[in-house]
Amino acid sequence: GRLVPSPCHELGCHPLDQMAERRLLILYGSQTGTAQDTAERIGREAKRRHFQCRVEALDSYDVANLINELLVVFVCATTGQGDPPDNMKMFWSFLFRKNLPPSSLCQMDYAVLGLGDSSYPKFNFVAKKLHKRVLQLGGNPLLPVALGDDQHDLGPDAVIDPWLLALWDKILALYPLPPGLEIISPDVRLPPKYTLHYLSEDSMHPDGDLLQPTAARAVPSELHPFAARMVSNQRVTAESHFQDVRLIEFDTVGSGITFSAGDVVMIQPQNCPEDVQQFCQLLRLDPDRSFLLKPTEPGTALPALLPQPCTIRHLVTHYLDISCVPRRSFFELLSYFSTNELEREKLQEFSSAQGQEELYSYCNRPRRTTLEALWDFPHTTSAIPPEYLLDLIPRIRPRAFSIASSLLAHPDRIQILVAVVRYKTRLSKPRRGLCSTWLASLNPEQGDVRVPLWVKKGGMKFPADPDTPVIMIGPGTGVAPFRAAIQERVAQGWKGNCLFFGCRQKSKDFYCQAEWEELVTKGFLTLFTAFSRDQEEKVYVQHRIQENRRLVWELLTSRSAHVYLAGNAKQMPAAVAEALQSVLQLEGGLSPSEAEKYLTVLEQTQRFQSETWS
Ligand code: 2AM
Repeated sequence: GRLVPSPCHELGCHPLDQMAERRLLILYGSQTGTAQDTAERIGREAKRRHFQCRVEALDSYDVANLINELLVVFVCATTGQGDPPDNMKMFWSFLFRKNLPPSSLCQMDYAVLGLGDSSYPKFNFVAKKLHKRVLQLGGNPLLPVALGDDQHDLGPDAVIDPWLLALWDKILALYPLPPGLEIISPDVRLPPKYTLHYLSEDSMHPDGDLLQPTAARAVPSELHPFAARMVSNQRVTAESHFQDVRLIEFDTVGSGITFSAGDVVMIQPQNCPEDVQQFCQLLRLDPDRSFLLKPTEPGTALPALLPQPCTIRHLVTHYLDISCVPRRSFFELLSYFSTNELEREKLQEFSSAQGQEELYSYCNRPRRTTLEALWDFPHTTSAIPPEYLLDLIPRIRPRAFSIASSLLAHPDRIQILVAVVRYKTRLSKPRRGLCSTWLASLNPEQGDVRVPLWVKKGGMKFPADPDTPVIMIGPGTGVAPFRAAIQERVAQGWKGNCLFFGCRQKSKDFYCQAEWEELVTKGFLTLFTAFSRDQEEKVYVQHRIQENRRLVWELLTSRSAHVYLAGNAKQMPAAVAEALQSVLQLEGGLSPSEAEKYLTVLEQTQRFQSETWS
């Protein structure tokens, strides 16, 4: 007799139950997008190994389902002070609830991949802690936690690549490939996340807009930004100064937005029209065409914030981050579209493990943008199928700014201090920060200018009682949250405000000078300034702290002052901490180790808080 293959084999697939078990869940917590990118990469590798795979942000995942998951890879970044990224905060507080039964995750095989920066003290803290906690809840670890490190010469992939190879070995030992199936070769390109359907020319829609006024009920958030009117945009450094710093004011009337000093405003920036036009030309896209997106796999959500239907111009302006430095996965995917031998070879090199050093010098060191990289591969670029755009280019991320004003002083308003980011690399065009450059370019005197924004709780909390003095140390735009705190306190008649401000030159970048001087005159503010370049030798805020150690000691010990530090100089936080310790030693007679301990206790009791960035 002739062997009759089952209908399923005829179709080249496998019995459903066999496939249904090959389920892999990849959950990520990502702040800047690297962890998400890595999670998606693991997702693609899983598809090549015939897994049904979901890739989700931890806070988008229904955590109640976790007890049913058999195979999970967690990919988590650690941010500044050892904190979890914003899109896993809810999961994080759930996971550490006391009442979770100890063996609730005993059905789960899992692995944790961490992304961190070993120049910060709590290196990969979140990944390590997550690994331990899942273990404690009964999970079976497949591998030790991977400690990806930004400081590594070849980037985090140097650790991740070999770890992933070991992970697939483990996973395929537990879930062998179904008979007859092989790992899908890297030569074959995977389908896109969404298919794109152009609408016919005559059913074209006007440019959709992200700036729909928020419905009155919703508090503005990432998914529902508020289209705030820009009221003013004023340069506060001298024209001759090297840096353009803006004081920008938004009107938030009717938004329901409230905040306190220390909170942060998130702004969703957009690409400039010239870049959008150039991108469309390179890819031979008609910016006015409208399209609909459909997920390739059922169950995939459509990208939030993209209207349906959407125009190409809207997609490129508001969604695709064409000014970010492209990642390895970008070149990997790009290589599939290449019809040009030379270009494909280069792209394959950039996406290989051996090519990472060269990719780093091509992209990261000179801060080359995605748009510029596309220029360098013209044959490939013109062949990119538009449905792959959302796989190829990450979405534009919102940017955080410390709020620099108080609702008590400026009701229905948000003010921010923005340093316009611009610097040179070996590339001939200067590098520009997307958000600050866009904001600086807006002119509210020429019409109705709207900016999508929402507000988030910040890391710094100011004392709620009038008798606790505050010592604030904020060189440069680090002064922003302190301007908010001072306005809030002064509006309530609270004194005890002591500010250390540093900038280069009194005549060039001493912004808000008139405001501070008025408050000093009225007795609300004690101000110490450090103009680093107004004399031969550098004078910094930490020098002013040491000079005024009697006062600092007094405020700390007899008045239980709170100390705040904010700013972006790399060495500054450590230098200020040292200055504070020397105050404790010289005025209080503490030994060096006692002084260090004292400062640690201040930090633990939230009497010393800092927010620093680079
Ligand atoms: P500089 O540029 O003259 O070195 C705001 O940027 C101010 O912070 C400037 O006056 C800058 O001085 C100063 N600054 C730079 N490095 C610093 C450090 N390590 N500690 C304190 N202030 C610093």
